[in-house]
Amino acid sequence: MKFKTIEWKGDSVRILDQRKLPGTIRYLDCRDAPSVATAIKEMAIRGAPAIGVAAAMGISLAAKRLRTDHPSIFKQKIEKVCHQMEQTRPTAVNLFWAIGRMRKILTETSLQDVSLLKTRLEKEALAIFREDLEVNQNIGEHGKIFIQHGNRVLTHCNAGALATAGYGTALGVIRAAWAEGKRFHVYVDETRPLLQGARLTAWELVQEKIPCTVITDSMAGLLMKEGKINLVLVGADRIARNGDTANKIGTYSLAILANYHHLPFYVAAPLSTIDFSLPSGKEIPIEERAPQEVTHLQGKRITPSGIQTYNPAFDVTPSSLIEAMITEKGIIRKPFIQNLKKTLRT
Ligand code: MRU
Repeated sequence: MKFKTIEWKGDSVRILDQRKLPGTIRYLDCRDAPSVATAIKEMAIRGAPAIGVAAAMGISLAAKRLRTDHPSIFKQKIEKVCHQMEQTRPTAVNLFWAIGRMRKILTETSLQDVSLLKTRLEKEALAIFREDLEVNQNIGEHGKIFIQHGNRVLTHCNAGALATAGYGTALGVIRAAWAEGKRFHVYVDETRPLLQGARLTAWELVQEKIPCTVITDSMAGLLMKEGKINLVLVGADRIARNGDTANKIGTYSLAILANYHHLPFYVAAPLSTIDFSLPSGKEIPIEERAPQEVTHLQGKRITPSGIQTYNPAFDVTPSSLIEAMITEKGIIRKPFIQNLKKTLRT
């Protein structure tokens, strides 16, 4: 990878500011937990696995900066930081999963020494980062069988190196198939309102020299009708127990279109994206973001002032529309409810 989405610097977290891409390469050096939380909330860093990594690193930063020798005070303060991190974005479960791992270190009864706790928290944050890279590469290896030479693949939003510790989930599958020598074309939905497809996925694909075409979101149906798409491949922010999948707004429409045109629709995601506490997609909390994201385009107003808006950042695709899920442990097919459970147990 020619860029680093996020980097642990020991006393700071370096984050590539994705709001500026592809025009400007700018890094944010976050020296405390609140600045990491702001970077997540304001989407300088975004994508389900990446925000989990960022939160974990932010918690470790807070731990390092804390000046107390009392384990109980230390734990109380870090618990507060965990809670603050949880308030940043509600939909991607990877965020809560990563915070949960950090919290587990705090609650290990054997750890009563503050400096040991600090070391363990740092180790855990780095492990979450490292494991994510490995998980993505495995997702790529398992998923590459779905892309054939000459295929046209449609993807939505950015599920690439920018959305993870590196490599990517849906884009990881594309990378792995390309690395194997298959030659194909990627259609990239621009992904209104924040243009993660046009700005970020296209930027990653151009760097890899993988042929791609950006389309506006509303063009997908026509392309499918014209026989220009062979498969749809997306990432996920939260997968409920029954396989219903929350991902970037517009994913559900794509899944319906793919179903109508008899095209396979694949979800690539780490197992940390599965939320077994939720029976179905109905219970997944959907983030609603600021109206300005709809009324303005890159800082410029495009609507009459005073207009009403609705800006859910994600939608839920029912599991019935999903052909298969690609995880680090292999391909999961229907019935998802049994097979997700089985995969998690192995
Ligand atoms: O709002 P974003 O940009 O954080 O949304 C990101 C997505 O919807 C991705 O598709 C998802 O997180 C998977 S990333 C591997």
